[in-house]
Amino acid sequence: MGLLREGINEVIATTRGNAAPMGIIVRDEKITMVVFRESHTAARLSSHGWVAANFLVDPVVYVKTAFDDLPASAFMEEIAGDIPFERLVAAEAWAGFRAEIERTTREALVVRLSPVCEHIIKPTVHPVNRGFNSIIEASIHATRWMRTRDPALALLIRHHTGVIRKCGGPQDLEALSLLLSYIPDLSEE
Ligand SMILES: Cc1cc2nc3c(=O)[nH]c(=O)nc-3n(C[C@H](O)[C@H](O)[C@H](O)COP(=O)(O)O)c2cc1C
Repeated sequence: MGLLREGINEVIATTRGNAAPMGIIVRDEKITMVVFRESHTAARLSSHGWVAANFLVDPVVYVKTAFDDLPASAFMEEIAGDIPFERLVAAEAWAGFRAEIERTTREALVVRLSPVCEHIIKPTVHPVNRGFNSIIEASIHATRWMRTRDPALALLIRHHTGVIRKCGGPQDLEALSLLLSYIPDLSEE
């Protein structure tokens, strides 16, 4: 399976001119994504039929791309299998996939991925850090909270905020402060 592992791989998915954290699901050698229909990623997957999975452990990029856009200078083109992929300049590794819409539900596209290429650019060791892991958790809950305003999600975000403050490094704390700036209404919950 190369760079991906069995289970859900939380990568930064790049499509044309766009980046967002997305889960790539690997089960029994089948690779899929479930992408909310209203996202830019869904629109670009449908139009262009490719996606790149970017592997990097930068909490600020996860938060920024979950809520906002990156500048054009953050992307670079890589042609593989005749596909003009766009990956993040900052990626430590990346993999390119053809993307085919397998099914459409009321809320999401179920997308089947076929590997085209993968490259390791700068192998780096990342010690396990609960602060970084909690940035990922808090960011997912925050994107859902923005849509639902579910108070249970607000509680989870508060829990992960505590873990990030206790276990995180300076980058995790910067990512936390960026995350909280995107969800100012949370304090009213
Ligand atoms: C770690 C993480 C994983 C996510 N996984 C998914 C996913 O698998 N599918 C999805 O539709 N949204 C997922 N999201 C939410 C999207 O990143 C978010 O809705 C984003 O705004 C979509 O950006 P876009 O409109 O540029 O595509 C995830 C968010 C985070 C933080």
